[in-house]
Amino acid sequence: MDNLPGLLRTHNCGQLREENIDQEVVLCGWINKYRNLGGLHFIDVRDKYGITQLGFAEFKGDLKMLKDLSLESVVYAKGLVRPRPDSALNKKMDTGLIEVQVSEFKVLSTSDKDKLPFLPLGAKEATEDLRLRYRYLDLRNPKLQSILSLRSKKSLEVREELFSEGFVEVETPILYKSTPEGARDYVVPSRVHPGEVYALPQSPQTLKQLLMIGGTDKYFQMSRCFRDEDLRADRQPEFTQIDIEASFVTTESIKGLAEKLMKRLFKMPDGFKLESITYKDAMEKYGCDKPDNRFGLLHHNVTSLFEESEFGTFKKVANEKGLIKAIFVPGNLGNLSRKDLDGLSEQVRPFGGKGVAFFKVQGGNRSGGISKFIDDALFSSLDRCESGDGTWLFFADGNENVVHACADVVRRFLGNKFDLMKSIYSFLWVHDFPLLEWNPKLKRFTSMHHPFTLPKKEYWETLKKSPIDDPNSPLKDILAEAYDVVCNGYELGGGSIRIHDQVIQSDMFKVLGFSEEEAIKQFGFFIEALQYGTPPHGGIAFGFDRIIMLLAGTDSIRDVIAFPKTTSASDMMANSPSAPSENQIKELHFNWIKK
Ligand code: AMO
Repeated sequence: MDNLPGLLRTHNCGQLREENIDQEVVLCGWINKYRNLGGLHFIDVRDKYGITQLGFAEFKGDLKMLKDLSLESVVYAKGLVRPRPDSALNKKMDTGLIEVQVSEFKVLSTSDKDKLPFLPLGAKEATEDLRLRYRYLDLRNPKLQSILSLRSKKSLEVREELFSEGFVEVETPILYKSTPEGARDYVVPSRVHPGEVYALPQSPQTLKQLLMIGGTDKYFQMSRCFRDEDLRADRQPEFTQIDIEASFVTTESIKGLAEKLMKRLFKMPDGFKLESITYKDAMEKYGCDKPDNRFGLLHHNVTSLFEESEFGTFKKVANEKGLIKAIFVPGNLGNLSRKDLDGLSEQVRPFGGKGVAFFKVQGGNRSGGISKFIDDALFSSLDRCESGDGTWLFFADGNENVVHACADVVRRFLGNKFDLMKSIYSFLWVHDFPLLEWNPKLKRFTSMHHPFTLPKKEYWETLKKSPIDDPNSPLKDILAEAYDVVCNGYELGGGSIRIHDQVIQSDMFKVLGFSEEEAIKQFGFFIEALQYGTPPHGGIAFGFDRIIMLLAGTDSIRDVIAFPKTTSASDMMANSPSAPSENQIKELHFNWIKK
């Protein structure tokens, strides 16, 4: 394993076995544990590969200093590998049949016993803030080390797979210009150009398209992306994409490539193919465009059933063009407590939900929640799922977006509660996305993906001719040649076939409310490039961190990034962001204000 010349150690701390008995070895590592059993001293020395027990029965040096040594000090131990006495065998440990009887012992670096904030192998007891503040200590935890190794291995596999398909890895600039992906930009002030800034790329979108125009044909990059947006368990302000673009491709080509890559990374069986669902179906059945399809509990649209009902609240929603969705939860899944029901109401609140309506079918009757509003006729029309005894019915009502989001929360909560999320990888293509979505705040349409996504051909005239300032404009019905990869409820990747025609691209910018002047100012270089011969092209980008999250079986993106940021986008270890120095303020012209 260790065959570099000049290493201080002969073996690592997870390596020695019975076959090494009687060999003289040198181990280096951190003190994980110290024991003094009636004058017999032992140290467990640890590195990322494992733990080995050091015994000091044959040691001629100063034994007293051992007990003063702080855990987490780094030590050097030379000695003979010996079998452990029968009473000390530990079959649970890889190195548990042997120990090293130390003849030479050196402290390479002491750890400060009084200041040590926590022990890496007991890191669970430390709060996450503390672990992030001392990330280098937390990184000594084998779990984080194994995730780093997994990440490194998977990035090699990505490269192997894409090289074998003839892709070329190209680096693109970090100091660049705004690349619209729907988040805010991080900007870097220029010293040389007072009052001007670079923007860090939200993705290399325009650059990879320019590489296609430049004839690169098949590009990829493990690219760092920067987005100033609200952070969640699967979002970081800087993250890594497996970014891919190719020329003369169709949706089918990109999907085929993506499937090969997913098969390799997730070790899926031969014949692996992703299932597909349209965006519309995904919203109807799951209330979101990244459905976790490992379990049922699908949404049912029951709006029309309440139009004539006696239940005033739902009747009003139904008659005012709102939406009512129901989820049927069979009684055999298990019980729900008062606490669960209250918890659910709390969980929908951040999504605009006021609470979660429900009732239960019990002994042929209906009980709890809104049961008193549900008469027999309404129940029999509602009961399309032939609810058995013990079935719970949950409802979300209100405006469409809120209802989808809340019913999605309810479904995921129930999936978790009843342990329905099997440990398999369940992939899906989501396709037929709308090209545009109406933004009521901006009072205009914005791109659902980004402005370079090709509308399906049958909508090109609609794009050109429809009003841009009316939420009900036919623009809302345009479908895009775009696709997302979803796995177990996470959006793993997304891409599209791109606009390669300058006129369609200009139409698109117009629809998005850019004046010709603004479009030229922001994307002039790109629009210009389209006129010199642009191959039809398309691509996709995968969230590499999210792939590693799934592979490592963790639900926090922070676990898969060596030095992650908190949900408020700060680095607690380096204390970043931090105030600029006086000199930086001066040099970077921070006090420059556009008059
Ligand atoms: P998109 O914005 O969908 O597409 O991003 C692609 C994938 O990147 C991951 N991702 C993130 N991962 C962690 N933290 C974040 N803040 C974050 N944001 C996105 C997701 C997502 O599916 N240029 C286009 C791709 C293309 O059209 O080829 C793009 O960036 O897994």
